[in-house]
Amino acid sequence: MSIFFKASILKKKINPDDTLGIVPTMGSLHSGHASLIRKAVFENSLVIVSIFINPTQFENKEDLNNYPRSIDSDVELIKNISENILIYVPRSKDIYENSVAALSYDFGLVGRIMEAKYRTGHFNGVATIVEKLLLLFNPNKAYFGEKDFQQLHIVKLLVKQKKINTRIVGCPILRGKNGIALSSRNKLLNKKQIEAASFIHDQLTFARSLWERKSAKEIIKKIKSSFLEKNYFKLDYFDIRYENNFLNAKKKSKRKARAFVAVKIGEIRLIDNLQLDEL
Ligand code: PAJ
Repeated sequence: MSIFFKASILKKKINPDDTLGIVPTMGSLHSGHASLIRKAVFENSLVIVSIFINPTQFENKEDLNNYPRSIDSDVELIKNISENILIYVPRSKDIYENSVAALSYDFGLVGRIMEAKYRTGHFNGVATIVEKLLLLFNPNKAYFGEKDFQQLHIVKLLVKQKKINTRIVGCPILRGKNGIALSSRNKLLNKKQIEAASFIHDQLTFARSLWERKSAKEIIKKIKSSFLEKNYFKLDYFDIRYENNFLNAKKKSKRKARAFVAVKIGEIRLIDNLQLDEL
């Protein structure tokens, strides 16, 4: 098992005939991350997992400081998948040198809605770190979860815009008990809040069950009012959008639609989404 703090040293382990996969993460790894790493190991001769809590994608310091950290168990989880994985744990300087700042990107509509609207600058920070990682290691494939579906789409736009020769592979959402999407932030919830969080997936599957016969407008109205009834939730958004262009969907059609939700339980903000056409 090799852990690297410097990209320049890690790069020496990459042979020209390797097929290289990368799984960018912020650590505090769980089975969702593990599913991406396993897929990368299956599809490539060499895999890098990066662990870096990227400061430029957090809009407030408190959120950044509270982000869970568990490097020892992260290494253990990776080791249990394969001993040959290269773990990149950069210090900020190795990524940002002396200027810890996001670059500026234009991703059109998808860069302005939902997470972009509620977390100003977030996707500039994500795109900055992902672009840096892809340019550093030039992997054949990079793996991202559909848990962050908007992020996945933005990364696909990024490689297109910047003509980066890496295939972006989307991976399905892994869920825990009661359908809760696994997330590092779940560690910040208490037992009661975890139980309450299952309501999020319930509402997504409820939306899916209605999609055959109700309009997006009707479904959104219903679900927003169910969230309002639960006083421990603060709903940021519940949207139904087409997967290909993120425009608001109207009703079921041949175009694939997805429901997206962001909700706060206490101080913890959770996001989730569900494909509506596949029952
Ligand atoms: P992080 O939240 O650590 O997630 C790393 C990757 O794991 C992301 O692609 C995310 O979508 C995926 N993932 C998280 N939970 C998942 C789940 N339950 N099922 C499937 N995949 C899941 O996303 C980030 O880090 C950062 O923004 C990053 C891309 C690393 C840039 O800093």
